[in-house]
Amino acid sequence: MDIQKIISEMTLEEKALLVSGHDMWTTDAIDRVGIPSIFMSDGPHGLRKQENNQNNETAINDSIDAVCFPTACATAASFDRELMYQMGVDLGKECQAVDVSTILGPAINIKRSPLCGRNFEYVSEDPFVAGELSAAYINGVQSKNVGTSLKHFATNSQETERMYADSIVDERTLREIYLSAFETAVKKAKPWTIMASYNRINGEYSSENKWLLKDVLRDEWGFDGVVMSDWGAVSNRVKGIAAGMDLEMPGSRGVNDKQIIDAVNNGDLSQEDLDEAVKNILKWIEKFVENRQEEVFDRDIDHEKAVRAEEECIVLLKNEKALPLSSDEKIVLIGGFAETPRFQGGGSSHINAHNVVSALSIKEKYSDKITYAMGFPYDKDESDEKAFAEAVAVAKDADKIVVFAGLPDVFESEAYDRTHMRLPKSQNILIDRLLELGKPVIVVLHNGSPVEMPWIEGVSSVVEAYLGGEGVGEAVMNILYGKVNPSGKLAETFPIKLEDNPSYLNFPVARHKVNYAEGVFVGYRYYDTKKMDVLFPFGHGLSYTEFEYSNLVIKPYEGVDASDWDIIGINSGATVSVDVKNVGDRTGKEIVQLYISDKTGVTNRPIHELKGFEKVELAPGETKTVTFELDKRSFAWYSVELSDWYAADGKYVVEVGKSSRDIQLSEEIEISGSFQLPPIIDEDVQLGELLAYKKTRAFTKEMFARSATQFSSKEDELDEMTKAMLEYMPLRTFRSFGELDNDKLAEILAEYRRIMDED
Ligand code: BGC
Repeated sequence: MDIQKIISEMTLEEKALLVSGHDMWTTDAIDRVGIPSIFMSDGPHGLRKQENNQNNETAINDSIDAVCFPTACATAASFDRELMYQMGVDLGKECQAVDVSTILGPAINIKRSPLCGRNFEYVSEDPFVAGELSAAYINGVQSKNVGTSLKHFATNSQETERMYADSIVDERTLREIYLSAFETAVKKAKPWTIMASYNRINGEYSSENKWLLKDVLRDEWGFDGVVMSDWGAVSNRVKGIAAGMDLEMPGSRGVNDKQIIDAVNNGDLSQEDLDEAVKNILKWIEKFVENRQEEVFDRDIDHEKAVRAEEECIVLLKNEKALPLSSDEKIVLIGGFAETPRFQGGGSSHINAHNVVSALSIKEKYSDKITYAMGFPYDKDESDEKAFAEAVAVAKDADKIVVFAGLPDVFESEAYDRTHMRLPKSQNILIDRLLELGKPVIVVLHNGSPVEMPWIEGVSSVVEAYLGGEGVGEAVMNILYGKVNPSGKLAETFPIKLEDNPSYLNFPVARHKVNYAEGVFVGYRYYDTKKMDVLFPFGHGLSYTEFEYSNLVIKPYEGVDASDWDIIGINSGATVSVDVKNVGDRTGKEIVQLYISDKTGVTNRPIHELKGFEKVELAPGETKTVTFELDKRSFAWYSVELSDWYAADGKYVVEVGKSSRDIQLSEEIEISGSFQLPPIIDEDVQLGELLAYKKTRAFTKEMFARSATQFSSKEDELDEMTKAMLEYMPLRTFRSFGELDNDKLAEILAEYRRIMDED
């Protein structure tokens, strides 16, 4: 495609046509200049290709027969970049096979509250995990010459009023938490497209937000793909184009085309801005149509992959030796989810699944001693005394009881949020009754985000299956019977109760505003800093084997004096290694996590933050060395004063562990080579700041000694209390308390400015 030539030949009307969708899923073909139409389809965990209902927005569940892989809440728990990459490759192949140019995902909004209706589609409360895993997925899909659409950019962390609400977030919080995963994915994987979210951010709709779409996304991060709107996320189309929002989806049936044409004609929109959008769209179309690959969508093969994927994701939350089960034991499965598992969430990611496997349907493969009683339905909260009694009666005969619990579909979905964190009452009642039998009770959970577990003390084991895709039943049975050793870990904290969550007081909206008042203290960053008890911490997950950690070694990168290995040059970074040994008797996988704790005290920060994770497989007795690489960003926070990432010189602790609450090894290191944050020189600058800053210290002491005579003749003789009070006194207050007049103050400020400018 000769893109420049095509643009030069296109009429204004044709350009306006191209920058908005043709229908729900396609772009417009403009045959006259040789532009073909391309098709995009929802994902992210399978294809929702709507062939027959392209204009029917409500026909959400009518799409081609496709394979439903585990949803993002599950795959996040795999902490497995390779798995995400491979899943991306498989989905990319499926797309090529059915002529889908772009899969609308991954969705990586931060799990700010357990209540967000779409948490099942999102990855984590932690941006490092969300960024790393989504980058791997994108690289996988795009390796098959199929695009992705990273969504929903940005701060779409609740569904309530999602199309209107205004997210009020300070910049540091945006940068460190809500934009950071997008940044990683954009930089590491270059998604072909990104989807602007419905909501507003600090007053401006994402789809018209120049700061977001141009300054940050394109200029700072180097994004060179297409920005498309979420479906119907356009308010002012003309403003959107000028702000860098290339494609409106699904289009406006010509209404906005006319506005674009008028705006160009009357000078409200520049031709260059429109051409830029056209160019981006053409580059995207070209990438797909000129790199088509022959692929076959083999649903049975991909189904097997979906089962294997879910096996990597299931998290064993608690196990008091009740698992794994043996085929000799009499087991009763209870709960509607054993027969009809919940394996995906509702809304635009809903897949018409090819082959849903329930635990019950394959029970003979595991043992001939498995019975079943429904006890409660899978699709509603209904307490039926007769069903309870039947379940208890069957359970009396069993050695162990496995309850398949979870959230019915209607409890969590796109477009609305949950209002509580509880399981259906009927499930909690029956679990309590079963516990009265005094036998081991194992609970398997099918849910997209955390639930309260009032029975946690009584049950022997809890298996978190999340929404595990169409193969969930088989994957769960393989874990229960020990054919697969569980290896997933939580990419989110399970609080004890909803009220513990840091966003609780500000979730979801108040008068159309979402107040992100907890700032950077999201998820474990809050619970761990507050040392609060949680139900299960971030990063937690058990195995049928045990792992031992030893030999933590931290080395600066090449070029830094190795004898000085505990001083890390801020511009060079470091390598951290640790030995992990399987000390049990089964092969298993461990997810090793690295956290950094900032001890410099320069600003308020979470007690620690995840900056590395690796998953390793170990045979019994085997040891492997796991390595992490750290760079400046691993230690940094976002300074709004500098408009940049900043890490101060000083002490940091490198922690390596099994979860955020189970740190096995740690070591303090010192960083050098950074710079001090300079004070802002004006009449409000405080004495303490001037004394702390190296360049201004000497002059401040000298000036202080001269002017502070009313406190003491010499600074050194000031008592502790007076010193502490002086620390926070702005210079101007010496007009009241010292001997300063306005002329003198101006002179002093001029001298400070001179000193600051010195090299
Ligand atoms: C959702 C997107 C989805 C789009 C198309 C929107 O309502 O927010 O995630 O890709 O619809 O179905």
